[in-house]
Amino acid sequence: MLCKKSGTHLQDFVLVTSKFTQDIPSRIDTIRGLIEMRLSEIIPSETTWPARLHEAQRHALLSPGKRFRPLLCVFIAEGGGVKKGPDLDAAITTGCVAEMVHAASLILDDLPCMDDADLRRNQPTTHIAFDESTAILSATALLNRAFGALSRLEQISADKRVEMIDLLSYAVGSKGLIAGQMADLANTDKGTSIAEIERLNTLKTGALFDFSVDAAGILSGMRASQRDALKDFSYHLGLAFQLLDDVKDAVMNEGEAKKSVNRDAGKATILAIAGSAASRKKLNEYLSHAKAALQRAELNNLSTLTAILDHQFAFLRS
Ligand code: IPE
Ligand code: IPE
Ligand code: MG
Ligand code: MG
Ligand code: MG
Repeated sequence: MLCKKSGTHLQDFVLVTSKFTQDIPSRIDTIRGLIEMRLSEIIPSETTWPARLHEAQRHALLSPGKRFRPLLCVFIAEGGGVKKGPDLDAAITTGCVAEMVHAASLILDDLPCMDDADLRRNQPTTHIAFDESTAILSATALLNRAFGALSRLEQISADKRVEMIDLLSYAVGSKGLIAGQMADLANTDKGTSIAEIERLNTLKTGALFDFSVDAAGILSGMRASQRDALKDFSYHLGLAFQLLDDVKDAVMNEGEAKKSVNRDAGKATILAIAGSAASRKKLNEYLSHAKAALQRAELNNLSTLTAILDHQFAFLRS
């Protein structure tokens, strides 16, 4: 598979993965099932008035995404000592909150005034399936509900809830994801430096990883040294995730990516500026940094988290 414009080969991006035991995938599937159930409960049914608005929110939120952010949140909380019961339940809801913000950001990102995309998760994007006004209102409603869901986590202390709400507000706000989207829309200058692109990617994609990971640290009562190591982890993970996504946008077709592709063709991405060999080197550097930071966090489920990462980044094998 070759990207006509950049000459990039998909094979250039095969990453080495580690082996994992049989029980890890089944545990991941169990947690994924609990996440799907919670996502479905968190938004009013399609028949609740105004039905079209709830239908559109459910269309965006419940479509088949990878659920990478909630999985990270739950397994990091577990690695920090959260066990079954109310604490695990709180971690699942917190992960779903990250997924709701993510879904809202995708609805907006796909609008004609942004990336103008028709396909998302193998389904028509929300503004195509419904209309632009319904899409904008659905994204706003999802964002609002996300904060409400955090504030109602009665299983955990009010102090922890406030800390997580503050964290989310920062991650999504005008110094986080929204800042990154603003910078991304203006990012057409091929003279942009790699450092500037990294800053942009850290904001538009990394900020929500920071929330998903640090909220898990709060929920499990981690030591400051563990939370610091995890900040380093989510920073490098965000960079790796967006770079791989940019490669997919350039190299895959719609059927493979299950979303509209070539949407960022005119953008100054690391792939566009530095080419495929340098991008592969960067991707591997980001991932090694992320994995080293994860080890420093001293979690008790490193092999499960490594399996989740390997699955995400070995996209040729999935
Ligand atoms: C896509 O995110 C948007 C980016 C931040 C690159 P995902 O690749 O996690 O998309 P879904 O949730 O699986 O659809
Ligand atoms: C979007 O990045 C990141 C968001 C904050 C929504 P992209 O525009 O590259 O994401 P995709 O490729 O459309 O999923
Ligand atoms: Mg975009
Ligand atoms: Mg996009
Ligand atoms: Mg993309």
